[in-house]
Amino acid sequence: MNSEPHVDIDALQRELDQLASISESPPPVVTRVLFSAADLKAREYVKGLCREAGLTLREDAVGNTFARWAGQEPALPPVATGSHIDAIPNAGRYDGVVGVLGAIEAMRALKRAGFEPRRAIELIIFTAEEPTRFGLGCVGSRMLAGSLSLEKAAALRDEQGKSLEELRRAAGFGEHDLRQVRLAPDCYAAFVELHIEQGPVLEREGVPIGVVEKIAAPSTLRVQLTGVGGHAGGMLMPERHDALLAGAEIALAVEQAAITSGSADTVGTTGVFRIEPGAVNSVPCRAWLEIDLRDTQVSTRDAALNRIENSVVQVCQKRGVSFQLERLNVDAPAICDPRLVQTIAGVCGELKVPVNRMVSRAYHDTLFMAQVCPATMIFIPCRGGVSHRPDEYSSPEQIRQGVEVLALTLARLAQAKV
Ligand code: GLV
Ligand code: MN
Ligand code: MN
Repeated sequence: MNSEPHVDIDALQRELDQLASISESPPPVVTRVLFSAADLKAREYVKGLCREAGLTLREDAVGNTFARWAGQEPALPPVATGSHIDAIPNAGRYDGVVGVLGAIEAMRALKRAGFEPRRAIELIIFTAEEPTRFGLGCVGSRMLAGSLSLEKAAALRDEQGKSLEELRRAAGFGEHDLRQVRLAPDCYAAFVELHIEQGPVLEREGVPIGVVEKIAAPSTLRVQLTGVGGHAGGMLMPERHDALLAGAEIALAVEQAAITSGSADTVGTTGVFRIEPGAVNSVPCRAWLEIDLRDTQVSTRDAALNRIENSVVQVCQKRGVSFQLERLNVDAPAICDPRLVQTIAGVCGELKVPVNRMVSRAYHDTLFMAQVCPATMIFIPCRGGVSHRPDEYSSPEQIRQGVEVLALTLARLAQAKV
């Protein structure tokens, strides 16, 4: 390297603004659901930036996008970085995007500094980190890690009943073979994801960088309830089998299971609750719930999961409501690679930037990349710990520091012999 990499935060801010404007909802809300027009337009925008940065693009059958800066020793496994650009309904502009646009700027900064990597450096833009479309998060990285079978992938359906196969073909990925998505073992030397913390710790402690040692174990349940609908005036209370009320009791049971799990880290959320027919003068006959339950410890998470499932059985028996219960995912936590964690802490030490070692309570594509290669994450603070909301915010300086740490980390990893 001829000089230290200099992060052009003004250019990066302009790109963050531009990407935020590609949304299904008016500003400041960002919504980019997998394979929506906004998602496809955002992909084109980011691919354009990659091309301008001199990176070579490749896409796989599920829409994971790879942008490579070739290394001097092509036989060596590359170093990978990346995140996602899909956004849940009513989201902000930083979740995932900082790790994608930040990685492009990190590579540009290294290029401007005259760096020539021994190993290739590859940006991965993962398909559907967010679970909005199929109820399952990290679809792209799960498939890369071989942790979502082709049969299960083929069974994925969105709310309208559209399959992954149908949607990926319509999005232009039909010419590729889903069987080729899975990564070969040893295909990457390391993976590092830059992301906003999505929690309050770094801001509260005034620490600009976090390095992740563990990612909490997520799980998701889908519950479909079928009761008996009828006229809100004519149907007397003893005759009722109200699907919404069964759902309401289940949602309260989720809260109780999390609160009483014995682990302060158990969090339970009923984030989806839809009813039919949705008319004020009609008793709800059907309800759909999606329940998100996480913990840093598998034992307390699984015990809470069992309690919630038992509650579904009991509530439905009591109310004469029938149910279907599906475990959409029950994942293990990820333990990040201690050497990578140390490398990032070392980079921060050289930059004289304070660093916290921490647990990620949110899940990320790193959860699955850690099954493929040594992996960890770099966190930056976000205001009030707020995320998955339009007022999500990290300052330009916080982002700049994160990108600088990422750039130096990638540089170090790209030169490593082993
Ligand atoms: C990721 O978006 C998560 O829900 O943790
Ligand atoms: Mn998210
Ligand atoms: Mn994210």
